[in-house]
Amino acid sequence: MRVFHHQAELQAALRALRPNGIGLVPTMGALHEGHLSLIRASQAHNRTTVCTIFVNPAQFDNPQDLAHYPRTLEADLALLAAVGCDLVFAPTEAEIYPAPPVTKLGFGPLEQVLESQHRPGHFAGVGLVVSKLFNMVQPDRAYFGQKDLQQCQVVQQLITDLAWGIELHRCPIIREPDGLAMSSRNRRLLPADRAAAPHLYAALRQVQSALVQQASIDQAKAGAMDYLNSFGTFNVEYLEVAETNTLQPVKILTEGREHAILVAAHLGQVRLIDNIIL
Ligand code: PAJ
Repeated sequence: MRVFHHQAELQAALRALRPNGIGLVPTMGALHEGHLSLIRASQAHNRTTVCTIFVNPAQFDNPQDLAHYPRTLEADLALLAAVGCDLVFAPTEAEIYPAPPVTKLGFGPLEQVLESQHRPGHFAGVGLVVSKLFNMVQPDRAYFGQKDLQQCQVVQQLITDLAWGIELHRCPIIREPDGLAMSSRNRRLLPADRAAAPHLYAALRQVQSALVQQASIDQAKAGAMDYLNSFGTFNVEYLEVAETNTLQPVKILTEGREHAILVAAHLGQVRLIDNIIL
């Protein structure tokens, strides 16, 4: 008989008894190569890959954004079939929310910075739907994109706090050839804004190289803000250097800690986010 006192050891043993594994890739559809990279990552580690497609009203703070969110189920299913995804769960709203939810999740300091300052309630909605999907699918591993770095940290917090024992895999950002991070929202960019959009990533790289050249974080951020403002089209919500784990913005880099540069900006009606881990 084997006795365990630690969740990690118990779950490792259980996983060994269930070697084939189930990988979960939650999405809101309008799939692109970024999503497909998560499917492929899951396929590399798991016998079975489950993709969920659900545009979650609870995480939208802006009704316009929800109304305009692209819904392309047939094209999504064709892409998923082509990459050999095993199971797709595309529930209706009534399936996920049979009654208006009253449970409220909070994420403390993680929820007081960056995205949360501009999208109140967003992560409570993400946490709720991800919790429901975890319960419904019972995956061994879950795959999320670094594109939504704060979401990755919120989900990690959820997994730790609620003892889910699911392995979270943070997968790299997939970009267009011109550097723009792939996003379902990119298709809503007007042509001139689409042409300007790669400057967002260029601004992140500028901060990165300024920091490498020993500029202060304030100097590096000011240079990149000037650069973005020079195009006259970006409405920047935040440009911050933060510690990756906590996502708390910092004024100086601390040796031995990992940092990230994160940006959010509106281009016309479309809100874009991007980041680089240093
Ligand atoms: P969605 O925006 O559809 O993204 C689904 C997953 O794809 C997320 O983990 C996101 O980080 C990842 N992703 C998006 N663009 C990417 C890119 N260019 N490269 C790599 N990964 C990318 O995020 C959500 O949906 C929702 O909040 C969800 C987790 C499904 C909960 O409703």
